[in-house]
Amino acid sequence: MADTYPDVTADTGTDLDTGTITMRVTRYRPEDGELEPTTQDYQIPLRKDWAVLDGLNHIKDHIDATLSYRWSCRMGICGSCGMLVNGEPKLTCEAFLTDYAPGPVRVEPLANFPVIRDLVVEIGSFMRKLPQVKPWIIDEAPPPAGEHRQTPAQVAEYQQYSMCINCMLCYSACPIVGLDEHFLGPAAIALAQRYNLDSRDQGVLDRLEVLSTDEGIWGCTFVGECTTACPKHVDPAGAIQRYKLSAATESLKAFVLPKSRRARATNGPAPAKEGDTP
Ligand code: SF4
Ligand code: FES
Repeated sequence: MADTYPDVTADTGTDLDTGTITMRVTRYRPEDGELEPTTQDYQIPLRKDWAVLDGLNHIKDHIDATLSYRWSCRMGICGSCGMLVNGEPKLTCEAFLTDYAPGPVRVEPLANFPVIRDLVVEIGSFMRKLPQVKPWIIDEAPPPAGEHRQTPAQVAEYQQYSMCINCMLCYSACPIVGLDEHFLGPAAIALAQRYNLDSRDQGVLDRLEVLSTDEGIWGCTFVGECTTACPKHVDPAGAIQRYKLSAATESLKAFVLPKSRRARATNGPAPAKEGDTP
């Protein structure tokens, strides 16, 4: 079987561009009365510059216009093209077909989400969980007169967690999300940490009430698949572990400090002020 395909390891270009590969795609059209998903094979060109998403677009444009899937930017930014590729959560615009040769390449909808149609999943559960962690800056003090400046070190504290593109690959990879529908999940917790670590934010104790629960950080058993799956190196597993440490520290502080001082101590140093050296 494999001999019928070109040697994709050779960087000749010509062979690759004339070869083909099979995409084995999950189909599911409940509006047509289908009760179970099925798979359908499509033979598509194997080009060295094509990602799995290009293969799906080829199917849609030239073979079967009824195929449904999401995408937008084609450059790993919008987070909408996540699917399972050979069983692993991937951004299909970044997963190159040649890495899956000689095929077939299995393309399925993300796990742990209800399927609307074919490869399109419904992420409403995440959208409902997200506001619970208050992913915005909480600061009751009057805003500064000018810019609210931060030093490079203060930005570096939370920058990694701000790279999330809400692609849901970590939710698809996480076994706890699959077992417990109430678990807030990796990206929501990482985003909470993004704001907790922001020097302009004073909301760490507000978020702790939601996150220091079995549906929050304590539900995570540190499998670490979320971090492996994340295309933006957000490291949600690391965020959760760091948060567990903060929560444990916070419960100790609760014995010895009043709430106002706990917030300052947990948030770290006071934010940069006008006139501070950035
Ligand atoms: S943490 Fe990573 S995998 Fe999870 S939604 Fe954000 S970018 Fe995607
Ligand atoms: S199409 Fe936007 S991330 Fe893939």
